[in-house]
Amino acid sequence: MGIIELNHSLVSNKLAILRDKNTGTKEFREIVSELSTLLCYEALKDAETYITEVETPICKMNVKKINEENYAFIPILRAGTGMLDGLISIMPNAKIGHIGLYRNEETLKPVKYYYKTPNGLANREVIVLDPMLATGGSAIDAINMLKEDGAVKLKFLCIIAAPEGIKKMKEIHPDVDIYCAVIDEHLNENGYIVPGLGDAGDRIFGTK
Ligand code: PRP
Ligand code: URA
Repeated sequence: MGIIELNHSLVSNKLAILRDKNTGTKEFREIVSELSTLLCYEALKDAETYITEVETPICKMNVKKINEENYAFIPILRAGTGMLDGLISIMPNAKIGHIGLYRNEETLKPVKYYYKTPNGLANREVIVLDPMLATGGSAIDAINMLKEDGAVKLKFLCIIAAPEGIKKMKEIHPDVDIYCAVIDEHLNENGYIVPGLGDAGDRIFGTK
């Protein structure tokens, strides 16, 4: 519980490409998506299942299924949308919401510009997506909004987490498990994760 870091050579291999400043937009986007699928795989390891019957070509049997529609995936715009495809590829029937936040570059405080979520959040498993957990401000604000809207079962998925953001999340939302591909060293004076991968949104969308 708390912070779950994917610990796998395949993940290290993908992160090595993602961190490289010479990796282009296409490959960067593909790897964010692949890592997001792996994060989803880990986060849903103990997902609730129900028993139903199928008939194989040989015989009838009881199988376990997930009620995908109970899930709400909530990417934090913009960069979080880069993770969405990776989750939808294995959970195509999940509901999707969006929270628009950007960090004010001077104060590093998140500014809200959009909010739209599926109804009935109180009864859903809510999975919040953002590739970078830096100061933690964006994740904390997004989760505050979702809790105000009734969400009680929440998980946060990111590619890179900074110790500063993890600490703040644990203080303010101790009930929300964080799944990350890797925990990095620290934040620099501009609030960027070191060594990190730079600005995730700009690299996913090719805006710089
Ligand atoms: C980035 C990132 C997170 C936030 C993390 O978004 O995608 O949302 O910064 O930083 P924090 O933990 O200090 O809040 P950004 O504000 O650059 O917006 P973008 O996704 O539109 O690029
Ligand atoms: N947001 C990013 O995109 N990258 C960082 O390193 C920190 C916040």
